[in-house]
Amino acid sequence: MTALLTETSTALTAAAFVAGAGTVVRTFDHHTQDSGNVSWLVEADGERVFVKSAGPVEPLPDVPVPALDHAGRVALLENAVRLARSCDHPALATLRNVVATGSGPALVYDAAPGELVGVPRAQRSDPRSAYQRFGHLPAERMLAVLDTLIDVHVDLAELGWVACDLYDGCLIVAPDDRLTVVDLDTYHPGPFTNTVGRMFGSDRFMAPEERTLGAAIDQRTTVFTLGRLVTHFATRRSPGSPLRGPPPASRRSGPARRPCRPRRSCARPRSSAGSRGRGRGRAAPQRWPPPVAPPA
Ligand SMILES: Nc1ncnc2c1ncn2[C@@H]1O[C@H](COP(=O)(O)OP(=O)(O)OP(=O)(O)O)[C@@H](O)[C@H]1O
Ligand SMILES: [Mg+2]
Repeated sequence: MTALLTETSTALTAAAFVAGAGTVVRTFDHHTQDSGNVSWLVEADGERVFVKSAGPVEPLPDVPVPALDHAGRVALLENAVRLARSCDHPALATLRNVVATGSGPALVYDAAPGELVGVPRAQRSDPRSAYQRFGHLPAERMLAVLDTLIDVHVDLAELGWVACDLYDGCLIVAPDDRLTVVDLDTYHPGPFTNTVGRMFGSDRFMAPEERTLGAAIDQRTTVFTLGRLVTHFATRRSPGSPLRGPPPASRRSGPARRPCRPRRSCARPRSSAGSRGRGRGRAAPQRWPPPVAPPA
């Protein structure tokens, strides 16, 4: 089995450790992320994993300085470990291992299948983008994905977690519509006070209190952001959105009807990170629809 899943500490940097433990198929660094973290999709021993690190200790030259220094980024990764170990909802990527490296923790997750719904602003009008293809799923399929998004947040809320920085860049959707919600590093273990003014987040989905110094951030904030996501994708009524237009078409007339999925419970924290089944009880996978013309 790959060292990514068996080792718990190494003197190597995360980058060197990953490079020696598998084949890096994609790197997420300052070219695509503004966090300062560096992550990799890695193939090792026939498996694909996602490894997330806090990146280099010193800021890179000629690159915008991230909002958080290395210690701050490590603290968020440690928070992400606590969250992952508290809840095993199937819409969360399974945390398989944590390796203490010479450059901070390396979190080894199962790689989520599918594509990130959030794309850079310049690509949001492109009918070939994952954003537009997800935004044009038929109503039943769209609502099933959004149901799962709400379901995982109900479980997280029962554990006390308050959403932060939740946006379409956290949603990975597979061809069979399986949702994985990623990058929950800034979720907060309980209500708190906004001490920074404009918090991390996308203006499209943020609640007013996330821009208000001294405001309370709590489950109402989570509900607001979930509502914005549902409005954005399921009604296509968000002002200025490239998805503006009629809501997703249902294949039936009348309100969309779909079978209810039994709720899972995350009431008992997991004792250790581990793999788990992710069956969703779905029929044969459907493919995402082919590219469509952008809405008028
Ligand atoms: N479990 C996963 N499996 C596959 N890909 C993933 C997984 N988690 C994240 N990704 C991909 O890696 C990218 C970077 O991950 P993530 O958003 O967690 O990093 P980040 O450094 O916190 O970025 P940001 O600057 O957006 O906060 C995501 O946008 C997504 O495309
Ligand atoms: Mg992040």
